[in-house]
Amino acid sequence: MRLAFVFGTRPEAIKLAPLIAEAARRGDRVQSLLITTGQHREMLGAIFKLFAITPDIDLQLMEPGQTLAGLNARALTAVTKTLRENSVDVVVVQGDTTTAMAAAVAAFYQRIPVAHVEAGLRTDRLDAPFPEEFNRRVIGQIARWHFAPTQRAKDALLRDGIAATGAEIHVTGNTGIDALHAAVAKLRQQPDASEIVHDAREWKSATRGPVVLITGHRRENFGRPFEEFCAALRDIAAAHPQALLIYPVHLNPNVQEPVHRMLNGLENIRLAPALDYPAFVSIMALCDFIITDSGGVQEEAPALGKPVIVVRDVTERPEAVEAGGVILTGASRARIVAEAGRLLDDPQHYASMAQVRTPYGDGHASGRIMDVLEKFSSR
Ligand code: UD1
Ligand code: UDP
Repeated sequence: MRLAFVFGTRPEAIKLAPLIAEAARRGDRVQSLLITTGQHREMLGAIFKLFAITPDIDLQLMEPGQTLAGLNARALTAVTKTLRENSVDVVVVQGDTTTAMAAAVAAFYQRIPVAHVEAGLRTDRLDAPFPEEFNRRVIGQIARWHFAPTQRAKDALLRDGIAATGAEIHVTGNTGIDALHAAVAKLRQQPDASEIVHDAREWKSATRGPVVLITGHRRENFGRPFEEFCAALRDIAAAHPQALLIYPVHLNPNVQEPVHRMLNGLENIRLAPALDYPAFVSIMALCDFIITDSGGVQEEAPALGKPVIVVRDVTERPEAVEAGGVILTGASRARIVAEAGRLLDDPQHYASMAQVRTPYGDGHASGRIMDVLEKFSSR
């Protein structure tokens, strides 16, 4: 069986890495063609290195300030050409990005079956996350195999009538948790040596002050909501000088501009370029809590017992909210400041949130997914 894995962004690379490794372990029966669209040019190198991945084909599609339509058109055309030139049995895509959607459509037009990893996440709002809810729904219409991370995700697919199309739905857990386990194991053997991880450790041991990790990049938050978010971070830093806020800033210019304009030069806010995955996991593991709008971080943090304030109105990952490890605030300055204040000032509240929770999987999703795909090839 020949699988084409198509990926392009940071989360896709992280979440497909363990599956690619699992396919390699079955190399006597499974061949892999690794295609990166290059939707993200800079943020994938360390992931490839950590998981020893060498893409076979790099389509190098990223343009600075790219539009959704422009990237989609380039990806559809380039992936179609690549699939024409290389014979494959199944195209594997992950998640909800432009790369995943365009690759699924390219495969569909060529009548190549699609396997969708992390299927069935829904907010039921096409504007949040935008355009990811739409992308995920499009892939849902196309896929032959839906690998749902949770039972709730499977239920959403059943509600969409997916089973009636003859497609299969399997609850597997999220491969992102497989990646996290692998990264934590590697970091145990060889701790990350980057300066920012060292500084975070120093802050905790020298001042005994808390470390708060921040990320933010969602399109629906661009503009005013993002400024509210930055204003909230400024308020938190001013009200809690004993806390260090570490913010690796996403490379999107719509993020870089407001963050640097509003947060540069503040004593206890440390802005950094987007971090390599091992450094990011190291800081997740040693920080006290996280403020983010990221999807993947909402899954990883509960597995590490770290509370998360999610700067979104709705989430397609409600399991950890219900379990008590994640709080949704929207991009409301007052609510973000209040919830961060509770975590910093109320030890009982903090302890109730800071518990290891694993609604997104046990770290063995990749094996389950490959078992299903191998059964198909042996039919
Ligand atoms: C994309 C995904 C989003 C995912 C996020 C992960 C879509 C529609 N959105 O959003 O679902 O959560 O990736 O991070 O697919 N840039 C660089 N270098 C890089 C990467 C980005 O300079 O390595 C800059 C470029 O100016 C680029 C811009 O960021 O044009 C936007 O990148 P893009 O992939 O279109 O959107 P993201 O906001 O990263
Ligand atoms: N991540 C990283 N470096 C960072 C920020 C995040 O390696 O500076 C990792 C994080 O651990 C998670 C993934 O990137 O695995 C999430 O990606 P992102 O937040 O960009 O996208 P989303 O999950 O929201 O689609």
